[in-house]
Amino acid sequence: MGQSLTPPARIGLVGCGAISGQYLTTLARTAGLELVAVADLDRSRAEQVARARPGIRDLPVDDLLTDPDVDIVLNLTTPAAHADIALRAIAAGKDVYGEKPLAATTAQGRAMLSAAASAGVRVGCAPDTVLGTGTQTARRAIDDGLIGAPVAATATMVTAGHERWHPDPDFYYQPGGGPLLDMGPYYVSCLVTLLGPVTAVIAAGSRTRDVRTIGSGPRAGERIPVAVDSHVTGVLTHAGGVLSTLVMSFDAVATRAAHVEVHGELGSLVVPDPNRFDGVVQVRGLSDPDWRPVPGSAGYRGAGRGIGLADLAATAPGREPRAGGTFAYHVLDVLESMLTSVATGGAVPVRSRTERPAAVPLSDG
Ligand SMILES: NC(=O)c1ccc[n+]([C@@H]2O[C@H](COP(=O)([O-])OP(=O)(O)OC[C@H]3O[C@@H](n4cnc5c(N)ncnc54)[C@H](O)[C@@H]3O)[C@@H](O)[C@H]2O)c1
Repeated sequence: MGQSLTPPARIGLVGCGAISGQYLTTLARTAGLELVAVADLDRSRAEQVARARPGIRDLPVDDLLTDPDVDIVLNLTTPAAHADIALRAIAAGKDVYGEKPLAATTAQGRAMLSAAASAGVRVGCAPDTVLGTGTQTARRAIDDGLIGAPVAATATMVTAGHERWHPDPDFYYQPGGGPLLDMGPYYVSCLVTLLGPVTAVIAAGSRTRDVRTIGSGPRAGERIPVAVDSHVTGVLTHAGGVLSTLVMSFDAVATRAAHVEVHGELGSLVVPDPNRFDGVVQVRGLSDPDWRPVPGSAGYRGAGRGIGLADLAATAPGREPRAGGTFAYHVLDVLESMLTSVATGGAVPVRSRTERPAAVPLSDG
């Protein structure tokens, strides 16, 4: 993002695990953000991060959350801890920006948003990948009428399981994890960005096995329990009537399906991986002999994880940031409603609403 005349927002990072490295890279190169302190339940992880960065303090978690020099708490803990850390930060008057999902449950998410509204602080949440050129160019193409009125979309994510590469993959198989809550936020955030909020869902789920085996790191070979469905599929009805079909799986080896496709009356659009910022959008109109690329026309160029935090820091007080809490809450509500549908076997109305965030003009991330 461009240079700002206001002083940088002072960031306190909680959770120095696998994903923190990508945020540390973004923090180091973003003028509007200044990392001042780090914390982790495992103090040695925070010490290691601070040691490599002169001037950054490593603090006990409680001290970081109440530190007067921290403006925004960046919450990169595992999903079960998202709400607790966020609520404690909000109670100390801090803005919060966290990794996805917003919380492990909508009840926790509601508590966060209501505490933040009472305290007058802002809530932001990943994924911010949908602010990159991939999803934003696709949104612009749809908004400009390139495929006519949208009719349907598909979103497909399959992998044989994150335990193959993540050294501490337990949380992927506990409530708040699973393919739906872990990867679903990218795909549903993309679909809501492109097609607007969801009003109802129907879904089914399955679980191939009750234990998984860690494939890398010091715990390789250890077996971990599975408490959630590892394959979930369903249909989302958007407010405008568009139907999106979602397949989220930790039980399949590979796919040749596009990550996301949107079909309109006049054409079809291939949308790049919503777990990435960039990628080429492709379109095929009624009379096109083949797919053709859509030139990048919107979104943060060259962005990395944390651009949503920079966007929040640059958002005027009282305005909702693009990767905002209300949007993330709606996404979580859609995902949780799918799990309710899996359990009940029937369609589930989605009561929460969100605006589509303001489109991102083509700009440097
Ligand atoms: N790993 C990835 O590739 C990836 C990608 C995108 C998003 N994410 C998301 O990022 C978040 C973190 O994932 P990760 O892979 O870095 O996990 P991780 O287990 O590698 O790291 C999490 C860190 O948080 C710390 N922690 C947990 N509870 C805490 C608490 N209550 N207080 C302080 N510290 C606490 C842990 O000690 C650990 O160091 C998750 O929400 C995940 O969905 C991960």
